[in-house]
Amino acid sequence: MIRSDYRQAAATVVTELTGNGVHIWQLSLLANSEVVSGDTLSKNEIRQAERFHFTTDRLKFILTRTMLRSLLSRYAGVEAKKLTLAYNRHGKPYLLNPDRDKPVFFNVTHSQDIALFAFSRQGEIGIDIEYMRDNIKYLELAQRFFSAQEYQALAQLSGNELKTGFYRCWTRKEAFIKAVGTGLSFSLGKFAVNFDNNDNPKLLWADTPHFSGTCNMFPILDDEYYCAALACLCHPGQVDFYYCPQNLD
Ligand SMILES: CC(C)(COP(=O)(O)OP(=O)(O)OC[C@H]1O[C@@H](n2cnc3c(N)ncnc32)[C@H](O)[C@@H]1OP(=O)(O)O)[C@@H](O)C(=O)NCCC(=O)NCCS
Repeated sequence: MIRSDYRQAAATVVTELTGNGVHIWQLSLLANSEVVSGDTLSKNEIRQAERFHFTTDRLKFILTRTMLRSLLSRYAGVEAKKLTLAYNRHGKPYLLNPDRDKPVFFNVTHSQDIALFAFSRQGEIGIDIEYMRDNIKYLELAQRFFSAQEYQALAQLSGNELKTGFYRCWTRKEAFIKAVGTGLSFSLGKFAVNFDNNDNPKLLWADTPHFSGTCNMFPILDDEYYCAALACLCHPGQVDFYYCPQNLD
């Protein structure tokens, strides 16, 4: 289920990304992977693609990067091939030399057959999607990685509630550390999110020097197969959701 107040569009035209808006784009990695040439990718990205052992993973990477460049190109007003992506010391990509008057913050996530892209002009954002597997030990993982508060709350759940709670917790936590940009150097046990309420996800507390300030969270996908969350270190007024077109030009 996607939040009902999202304006959904099978858009082929990028609408104006306003100062307090966030745009989310969903890409099917099933539908497009044979049609992508990768000719807008940088040499570095082509080297990255070549490191994938399995062809499917390589094609998914090329497709995701091609779409990222295509979308970024429209938001930044620069030809896709000419965009330069740089990385912070934890691997978070950002746009080098952005227009100061029209900055573009973005983040990417992919799992199984879906990639999601998030764009904002206001501040750092992080997005995470997970394909919800049945064959994992939710409580063992929660005890190992999450805060004690989250583990104890999850331990009260069972069956489908436990699975859903675990994935809501995981995606909210990942979205938050992806917004902050520190990756796993920011221990997942040093902060807590809620997961009982799908309409109102929240960062509950964070005990770390990596972060002080605001974090607003939004549920993006929450269906039988996938769970996804968005974290914004800013105050978006509106979050719009679009499906990526099949044609990547
Ligand atoms: C790399 C990490 C930031 C996200 O990894 P992930 O959830 O496996 O992958 P996602 O698909 O959500 O995100 C990958 C994308 O995030 C971006 N990214 C990479 N490092 C990032 C960082 N430090 N901050 C924000 N975004 C980052 C990149 O665009 C990357 O895409 P690419 O691989 O096509 O270049 C990191 O948090 C991680 O390794 N997480 C896994 C943690 C885990 O196993 N937790 C278990 C909980 S039970």
